[in-house]
Order: sequence, then C-alpha cells, then structure tokens
Amino acid sequence: MAQPPVTGVRYSAGQRSFHWLIFAFVLLAYVFINIKGWLPRGDAARVGMLEAHFAAGLAVLLLIVPRLMLRLRRGAPAVTPEPPRPVRILGHITHGLLYLFLVVQPVLGILAVELSGHAIDLPFGLAIPALHTPGNAALAHSIREIHEDVGDIFYWVIGLHIVAALWHHWFRRDDTLKRML
Ligand code: HEM
Ligand code: HEM
Repeated sequence: MAQPPVTGVRYSAGQRSFHWLIFAFVLLAYVFINIKGWLPRGDAARVGMLEAHFAAGLAVLLLIVPRLMLRLRRGAPAVTPEPPRPVRILGHITHGLLYLFLVVQPVLGILAVELSGHAIDLPFGLAIPALHTPGNAALAHSIREIHEDVGDIFYWVIGLHIVAALWHHWFRRDDTLKRML
C-alpha cells in the first residue's frame, strides 16, 4: 500500500539512482537504434547496434520493476514552493505516461522480435532464445510498427519532461530538480 509522501527534501538515494540509470539506458536505446539506421545494410556494425539496442531496452525493463516497487513504498517528496494545481496535475500525467512507456515499450520490442520467430540476439554472443516458432510475421510486423510509433511519440513526451524540469529550476525556482539530483 502507498505510504504518505516522504517529507525529506529529495527523492530517496535509490529512487534517484534508478531515475538516472534508466535515463541513461533509454538514451542508449535511442542512440543505438538511430546509429543503426545510419549504417549501410550488410554492415556488421549495424547488427551490433541493433543488438545493443535490445540490451539497453532489456536493461530498462529489468530496472523499472524495482524502481516501481520503491516508488510505491517511498512516494514522492513535496515540491517547495508548491506549484499551482494545474502544473501538479500535468506533472502527474506526464510521470504516469513515462512510467507506462518504461514498461510497455521494452515489452513491445520483445514481442516484436519473439513473435517474428527469432531469438533476441544480444552483445557478447548472448541471446534470449526464440520462444514462438515458426512465428507470426503479420502480428510481429504490426507490433514492431507500434513500437516504432511509440518510440517516435516519446521523443516529445521526454522532451516535455526535460523542459518542465528546467522550467521548474530556472524560471519557477522551486526545488523540483534538486529533489532528483
Ligand atoms: C525503453 C526501451 C526502448 C526504446 C526507447 C526503444 C525505441 C525504439 C525506437 C525509437 C525504434 C526505431 C523507431 C523508428 O525507426 O522510427 C526502435 C526500433 C526497434 N526496437 Fe526498440 N526500443 C526499446 C526497447 C526495445 C527492446 C527491449 C527490443 C527487443 C528486445 C526492441 C526491439 C526493436 C526492434 C526490433 C526495432 C526495429 C528495428 C529495425 O529498424 O530493424 N526495442 N525502438
Ligand atoms: C528518458 C528520459 C527520462 C525518463 C523516462 C524520466 C522519467 C521520470 C519519471 C517516471 C519520473 C517520476 C518520478 C516519480 O514520481 O517517482 C521522473 C521525475 C523527474 N525527472 Fe525524469 N525522466 C527522464 C529524464 C529526465 C531528465 C533528463 C531530467 C532533467 C533535466 C529529469 C528530471 C526529473 C525530475 C526533476 C523529476 C522529479 C519531478 C517531480 O517529482 O515532480 N528527468 N522522471
């Protein structure tokens, strides 16, 4: 059961670590898949970038589980001075969308590969075996398209989140950002 918000100045050390670690892996997932797109077909590095994308995305899924458990246990510290209600509501909506994204996006990615009947090949020769052979090419293709669209849409949501964090810090001059550092 959720506890009342902690009254400390910052998020707990664990919450802060998870936030920035997951941020790093999401960033890497985006960087790797974009570099993959720039490389010519048939280039071995292109395959390497796709495998690195899978690994970064899987790391997000592994880390989001303990992060959400910690969030339910520790809550969120209050912002000082308290922002107006509409700003607080917008923050809740954005954070809810971000949490949803961090769970759903890697799951869609895994389904896109597994439903195509392929193993998820990872760096260093590691792999998650194919669990659904011979696969369902049409379904896998649709899920992959959703995964790509969600990935494109979240550039904007993540962008809004970052702009909001900087707006709180530089223009509203509250402690929103300091609570996460
Ligand atoms: C938070 C984690 C993830 C993010 C942010 C993410 C984001 C993206 C983005 C932005 C694209 C390219 C979209 C485009 O070309 O317009 C993409 C493609 C793809 N992703 Fe992910 N992804 C994540 C996790 C995963 C995972 C865990 C897997 C599978 C294990 C996966 C599998 C794929 C596949 C198969 C593609 C298509 C690649 C291609 O062009 O051949 N993704 N992803
Ligand atoms: C992939 C990128 C990011 C994702 C997915 C993400 C996700 C999240 C989520 C889900 C929360 C809600 C925390 C909670 O209530 O438990 C949050 C809070 C926060 N994030 Fe991010 N974040 C990202 C990048 C960033 C960056 C780059 C910054 C700084 C410029 C930032 C600053 C903050 C701050 C200050 C909070 C606290 C907001 C509040 O409590 O009102 N985030 N983030």
